[in-house]
Amino acid sequence: MADYQPADSAFALDRDCTTLSRHVLEQLHSFGPEAQDLSALMNRIALAGKIIARHLSRAGLMESALGFTGDINVQGEAVKKMDIYANDVFISVFKQSGLVCRLASEEMDTPYYIPENCPIGRYTLLYDPIDGSSNVDINLNVGSIFSIRRQQGDDLDQTGLDLLQDGRQQLAAGYILYGPSTVLVYSIGRGVHAFVLDPSLGEFILATENIQVPAHGPTYSVNEGNFWQWEDAIRDFTRYVHRHDGYSARYTGALVADFHRILTQGGVFLYPGTTKKPEGKLRLLYETAPLAFLIEQAGGRASTGTEDIMGVVPGEIHQRTPFLVGSRDDVALVESFIQDHSRRQSTLLTN
Ligand code: AHG
Ligand code: MN
Ligand code: MN
Repeated sequence: MADYQPADSAFALDRDCTTLSRHVLEQLHSFGPEAQDLSALMNRIALAGKIIARHLSRAGLMESALGFTGDINVQGEAVKKMDIYANDVFISVFKQSGLVCRLASEEMDTPYYIPENCPIGRYTLLYDPIDGSSNVDINLNVGSIFSIRRQQGDDLDQTGLDLLQDGRQQLAAGYILYGPSTVLVYSIGRGVHAFVLDPSLGEFILATENIQVPAHGPTYSVNEGNFWQWEDAIRDFTRYVHRHDGYSARYTGALVADFHRILTQGGVFLYPGTTKKPEGKLRLLYETAPLAFLIEQAGGRASTGTEDIMGVVPGEIHQRTPFLVGSRDDVALVESFIQDHSRRQSTLLTN
């Protein structure tokens, strides 16, 4: 009896079967308890992404899906109805998971605890439920950003102080980009991988494995409307790219979309400190640290301009950091302007 010969379509069939949860287990080469946990956590993230994608696709047809709630969140920003909807989706999806003891979100002053999970919940989910909220009402790209950390200690006083640790404590990180297709990009520390939601299957299917960011790219992504609020070094970098060939500006107003372009095509994204916000606008624990985790896994860099994002220890859950992220050479170029300026300043001070 000849060995069974699968049809040529076997490759496509196998790819359709490479779902996110299977991919996590393959990454870890293990079916042990932590591998199963991570696989289950990523499956929950995928479910949240599918629910949010569905809501976004119909928001224009639904009463009270778009627009503002009228509230101001802990960030001091006006809250969109979609922010709250997506925030609640993640809570609902993880409530019965038995995995997550608490969720820390951009939209909540303090972490949300799931007490019945805490005795067994080994993990914390930190997330930005809708990133790029200003794009929601005009049907442009938005995203969700997530980071998973192991629960450390029992946090009985529910202050979440054990979350105030550097980015190297992250077990997994990634984002969901809601665009013409819904893309989920993640890493558990073994490379960066992209999945595309196949609506006909209702599954995220593996599209690209081991994404590597080019050492240099043509894109610089920054809101030049803040030009006069930046320090001189950033203004000088901007003048440099204005005067040199080979650079083009792209800025969508959604960090996830701008980051995805940089991750796949190279270049640099900047959200520097400004006179109004010296620490910048982006938040460490659920925006810059998860993306720093990804870009380092993809061979790129992420810094505050003076130190690696992954080394920053936050003083509070919603701490902000200045953010440079992208190709090694391009991040280094921005940092060289910052170093030149600090050298000049120290020379002036010593003379
Ligand atoms: P969020 O919608 O979660 O508050 O994030 C918005 C962030 C980020 O997505 C984007 O890069 C940045 O804000 C845009 O800020 P500006 O409008 O100040 O450029
Ligand atoms: Mn955001
Ligand atoms: Mn947000």
